[in-house]
Amino acid sequence: MLSCCRFFIWLLPVIALASCSGCSGPDLAYPEKVRYEFAPHTILESTDKVKTYDLKEDKRDELTKLLLPTFGTPREPLVNVDDASQEIAILKLGKEQLASGSKLFRAQCLHCHGKEGNGLGTTSPLLNPKPRDYRQGKFKFVTTVRKDAQGKPDTALASYPARADLFHTIENGLPGSGMTPFKQDAQQIEDIVSYVIHLSLRGQVEYRLTRQWCDEDEKPQDKDVARELKDILKQWAADAQSVYQSQVTWEEIEREGTATKWAKGRDLFLYRAGCPDCHGKNGMAKLEEVPNIATMKDDWGHPIKPRNFTQDAYRGGEKPIDLFYRIRLGMKPSRMQAADQSKITDADVWNLVGYIKSLEIKANAQ
Ligand code: HEC
Ligand code: HEC
Repeated sequence: MLSCCRFFIWLLPVIALASCSGCSGPDLAYPEKVRYEFAPHTILESTDKVKTYDLKEDKRDELTKLLLPTFGTPREPLVNVDDASQEIAILKLGKEQLASGSKLFRAQCLHCHGKEGNGLGTTSPLLNPKPRDYRQGKFKFVTTVRKDAQGKPDTALASYPARADLFHTIENGLPGSGMTPFKQDAQQIEDIVSYVIHLSLRGQVEYRLTRQWCDEDEKPQDKDVARELKDILKQWAADAQSVYQSQVTWEEIEREGTATKWAKGRDLFLYRAGCPDCHGKNGMAKLEEVPNIATMKDDWGHPIKPRNFTQDAYRGGEKPIDLFYRIRLGMKPSRMQAADQSKITDADVWNLVGYIKSLEIKANAQ
């Protein structure tokens, strides 16, 4: 039964793709009258307490209208704000790119991620993990590091993705989730990346103003839209250009690691880096050993399970460099924090990567 469902789920994007031959044709644009709509925002407030921010019908309408001149419609998406031309250029949010991205998104992504990028597409109820809700601006698969107030990179802070991170996610898919690879020409993926950023910016402004209205009973105005959007754009453009650079390379570590069967990595994993707290001592994330994972939730309030390194696919890619970034920077919306920069060096992280990969090989050899 399970495998039959899985098959069906994997097939859906294929059906969606098949039904969009000639993806750039004008008929793929959303109809004129279609508008972005409001859906409640669900967040994890504390360990396992989920909170929903919602608005009554009339307020939903007002907020949607307020956002219209800045973000346009699904057919003619915009990011329209003064004094942010540099950020808009860095993030490639021009009208033409967004219009093209919107068509491609409608054909390929809509049924999972929803028109607003809220993760509530028609296929969503069938899926676990759930398609991403972009409206909190939180992403798991990043290579970027945020700088603190003094301009120093701080891996403990969450960071917006680089365009290349979103490109990687779209091109390679997320193995082990419903999201398959979307192989197409690079320019098309670039356009979709722009559109995902547009949806995320719109969603974040909507989210912040919804909270302002709910928490402070303060009706949002035009100036609030511009203020929040500029704030988010500035941070996003800064993060997107701040890719974490490792002090050492995989090649420098690999030879000794292989020769010693990754003894250093094993020691780090078991005793110094805190990994067994969630992944278990043998990396299999078994409930009997780590019962705390039974109720673990991600930042959107969905249940989340640590990876079993002996059998699960790596979602963000299986190359050593992909795993380096997951461990160095964490997958912050999923509870997995960045490995502590003050205790775990870049060389240590590569050793952890090698050790984890050796678990997978052992399982395959059995
Ligand atoms: C069959 C459903 C499905 C389709 C179609 C799909 N996705 Fe996803 N997408 C998912 C799921 C599920 C996740 C969350 C996986 C996870 O959290 O491990 C996701 C996550 C993402 C993320 C978040 C990555 C991160 O760093 O957190 C992005 C961005 C994304 N998808 C973009 C797209 C785009 C763009 C398209 C269309 C080209 C698309 N997706 C099509 C299901 C889908
Ligand atoms: C607080 C719990 C927690 C700790 C501690 C933790 N992880 Fe994770 N880890 C997770 C969860 C949850 C996931 C799955 C996230 C998801 O699917 O979104 C995960 C996923 C991963 C992945 C999969 C990445 C991918 O692309 O699929 C790797 C690799 C990983 N962890 C390595 C480590 C290592 C190494 C350590 C120790 C330095 C560690 N983790 C510590 C919770 C944790």
